[in-house]
Amino acid sequence: MRLDVVTIFPEYLEPLNVSLVGKARARGQLDVRVHDLRAWTYDRHNTVDDTPYGGGPGMVMKTEPWGDALDSVLADGYEAGSHAPALIVPTPSGRPFTQELAVELSERPWLVFTPARYEGIDRRVIDEYATRMPVYEVSIGDYVLAGGEAAVLVVTEAVARLLPGVLGNAESHRDDSFAPGAMANLLEGPVYTKPPEWRGRGVPDLLLSGHHGKIARWRRDEALRRTAANRPDLIETCDPKAFDKKDREMLSILGWAPDPEGEPYGRFWRRPEGMEQ
Ligand code: ADE
Repeated sequence: MRLDVVTIFPEYLEPLNVSLVGKARARGQLDVRVHDLRAWTYDRHNTVDDTPYGGGPGMVMKTEPWGDALDSVLADGYEAGSHAPALIVPTPSGRPFTQELAVELSERPWLVFTPARYEGIDRRVIDEYATRMPVYEVSIGDYVLAGGEAAVLVVTEAVARLLPGVLGNAESHRDDSFAPGAMANLLEGPVYTKPPEWRGRGVPDLLLSGHHGKIARWRRDEALRRTAANRPDLIETCDPKAFDKKDREMLSILGWAPDPEGEPYGRFWRRPEGMEQ
């Protein structure tokens, strides 16, 4: 997979040289190229921004540097044999970046990222490239960063670990929280390793029992417990067919019940305080 990043802070992307992404690059599984947007400015001050039409605070990134940069990066990639680029535009106004989108992007051969500073990029740039390739405007969460570079790191890492051969174990992402196609999206529960006792704290006995069936059930119960506490929305939107008898027992203990008026029938909701089981 080829990745291009155009930014005014190339040094911000240094983390792409370390850990999982760095190793994938070293092995030749990822071809990452970081470009300085200011290389496509031609004035004394290397200007990349200007005041917004219509007034208002902040600055807007100019069309010309982005247009010239993207034309040049795309031409270079095609020349090197890459094909089917997709433009990834990090912005708090984008669609939420999810595991499902990470899987979709991991199946593309070439991603071009345009992290912006200031109030964003002149809209005409995105509209122009959208006539030539798929454009994904993505937000990594409901908060505003000073620029899109950190979002590029997030998206890159989520995508890179899905590439064949990047994570040692091909099975490893099947059980990820949020793996697409899972019956229920549950958060993963707690994990433990040696030593069996640390500062007076033990490990749940069951995990040392070697009883695989019981361990799987315990893990599922802990996943339900954690999801109910931290992401009740995932339980509420889950198709009730995803919950087996034991799940339902656990959910009941946690204060959840099927809602006969839920859509689809029997979707779970949290019993109001004080309401009996
Ligand atoms: N740029 C600024 N904030 C962002 C966010 N939440 N997601 C993606 N890009 C951004």
